[in-house]
Amino acid sequence: METYLRKRKVLMIPGPTEVSFSVLAAMSRPVMAHYGPEWTPIITETTDMLKKVFQTRNDVFIMPGSGTLSMEASVVSLFERGDKVLSIVSGFFGKRFRDLAFSHGAKVIEHRVTFGEPIEPDAVDRKLAQEKDVKAITVIHNETSSGTVAPIKQLGEVARKHDALLIVDSISSLGGVDLRTDEWNVDVNASASQKCIGVPPGLSLIAVGERAWESMKKRKSPIPGIYMNLSMWREAAKKAGSPVTTPSSLILGLRASLIEILEEGLENRFRRHALAGRAVREGVKAMGLQLFATKEEYASNTVTVIKTPRGIDDAKLREVMSERHGIMIGGGLGELEGKTFRIGHMANTASRTYIIPTISALESTLSGLGFKLEAGKAVAAVHKTFE
Ligand SMILES: Cc1ncc(COP(=O)(O)O)c(C=O)c1O
Repeated sequence: METYLRKRKVLMIPGPTEVSFSVLAAMSRPVMAHYGPEWTPIITETTDMLKKVFQTRNDVFIMPGSGTLSMEASVVSLFERGDKVLSIVSGFFGKRFRDLAFSHGAKVIEHRVTFGEPIEPDAVDRKLAQEKDVKAITVIHNETSSGTVAPIKQLGEVARKHDALLIVDSISSLGGVDLRTDEWNVDVNASASQKCIGVPPGLSLIAVGERAWESMKKRKSPIPGIYMNLSMWREAAKKAGSPVTTPSSLILGLRASLIEILEEGLENRFRRHALAGRAVREGVKAMGLQLFATKEEYASNTVTVIKTPRGIDDAKLREVMSERHGIMIGGGLGELEGKTFRIGHMANTASRTYIIPTISALESTLSGLGFKLEAGKAVAAVHKTFE
């Protein structure tokens, strides 16, 4: 048992996350070809289910790759040299979108938000009015580095008002937090398999709306390359195909997970993540720790970012959690490294089954490292939230 626990870590990091038995079972069958009469109904059904999770009637693609690929595919396909892009930077991944746009030649205007603070749509509105001719806004829905959520509905209204495209990264929120791609005017929604979708890493998921296609048609130069060229994915999808060999086993895992997600129902799933987020926050606060998000109503329901208390070495904290308790939690990212640590509660781990042992282990670990707390108070707060 001891050896098993040391080898098999429970993933309470903010992705990749734990996957269900049905996903594992679906991936364990003999490899299938990514085309042909057996494959066509599978990819068609999977794509249709994915559209429901993206809450879109437009195109969705399943590409081999990580989340960054879906972000970069949107940049490569939409932006030409000199295009004006407003990048909202409220954490580590906002910077990544900014840097991707910049490195592919866009003229990037950064809209910086103090990490941990909410994004103010009015401030974005004013910036767009000032700048004029902004082609697109990039924003992270759920900033996994700061544990905050962006007001996408309001940003969608602002984007429309200024005739700018809205490109959203939902890598750590899709399937866990409500994000209505079509209704909220999201033109490109970039995501991935390994977080709230509950599938191993390796699939890049992307939804592309009509306004984004129109914008691509108006490009002066053709979209470069193949892999990230969304128009090639659209062309191939007309015949249930893809421009590259897709990982059929992972897609079978995705299919199994989407069946589970839709059986649970999106509303129920969002509610479950909201409850999980609240339970973790209540536990953390009862321990005497501080959340990194400055306003709890904007705190993420899929990842909780916690300020590392003074005198605690966060690397040691994570080591004890992993080695003694068999539970992996995440460290801080970028400029928040050492200053914060993170607990993921996504897909299957957004449940009392995973959260109660995690909070209990955290309490014991912190206490062992000399942090003063009242033993049992945090676990009691979590139980109470779940009651
Ligand atoms: C919000 C967000 N964007 C982008 C990424 C990068 O995704 P990947 O590591 O799958 O490329 C992550 C990964 O943690 C993320 O949480």
